[in-house]
Amino acid sequence: MRRPFVAGNWKMHNTLAEARALAKAVWNGLRGKNRVDVALCPPFTALTTVAEAIKESPVKLGGQNCYFEPKGAFTGEISAPMLADAGCACVIIGHSERRQVFGETGELLHKKVRAALQAGLDVIYCVGETLEEREAGRTEAVVARHLDEVLAGDIPPARLTIAYEPVWAIGTGRTATPEQAQEVHAFIRPRLAQVFGLDAAAAMRIQYGGSVKPNNAAGLMACPDIDGALVGGACLVAADFLAIIAAAADSVS
Ligand code: PGA
Repeated sequence: MRRPFVAGNWKMHNTLAEARALAKAVWNGLRGKNRVDVALCPPFTALTTVAEAIKESPVKLGGQNCYFEPKGAFTGEISAPMLADAGCACVIIGHSERRQVFGETGELLHKKVRAALQAGLDVIYCVGETLEEREAGRTEAVVARHLDEVLAGDIPPARLTIAYEPVWAIGTGRTATPEQAQEVHAFIRPRLAQVFGLDAAAAMRIQYGGSVKPNNAAGLMACPDIDGALVGGACLVAADFLAIIAAAADSVS
C-alpha cells in the first residue's frame, strides 16, 4: 500500500505573515493525523518562516524550483543546496508554468533533477499535456517525453514522486475526471517500471494535480494509481487543503 503524498504549491502567493498563519493552520489541522505525507512549497522568501512554523511537525518543506548549479553568478536564481540549507526536504521540478512561462526545456530539467538529488532533496517531477496536445491525441506521447527527459536508472526511485498535471486543468477549475487521470497514471507506472523495475515502480507515488478541490478530491484519490495530489489554488485556504489531505487519508483506510 502506497502512503499518499499531498503537496501544496503556493506559487507566488503570501506575505510572511500570511505564510506563517497558513503553515500553522495546516499543522494544527494535522495534529494527531499521520496517514499522509504532507509538504508545503512556499515562495523562496517565505521558506525560513514556514520552516519555523512547522518545525515540530512531520510536515515537510519544499521549494518550487531551483537552479542546477550549486552557486555562482546566476542573478535571481536559487540553488538546490540553498533550499536544503533553508530546511527543504523536497523540490518541485518541471512545473508546467516553469516549462511554459519560463521556457524550461527537458535538458535543463534533467540537470535540475540531478542537482536536487545531489543536494539531498527529494523531487516532485511534473509531467502533463496541454489541451491542444490532448485534443490531438498526443497525451501519452507528451507524458512519455516528459518522463524520458529525466528518468534514468541512476535516480533513486524512492526519492522521486511524479506529478501528473494536465496543463488544461491547472488553475482553470476544470479538473480531469478520475477516469481521465487514472488512465494517464496507469500509463505512467509501467514506464517507471521499465526504468526502475516492477517493485520500485509499484512503490512510487504518482500525484495528480490540476484544480484539485475538496469536492473532487475523494473521487480522484480513490483511483488505484493516484497516490496523492499536488495542489495549487486550494492549498492557500487551510480548511480546503486539510479536506484534500483527509480525502487522501480516507483513500487508504
Ligand atoms: P491548481 O494548481 O490546483 O491551482 O490547478 C495545481 C498546480 O499547478 O500544481
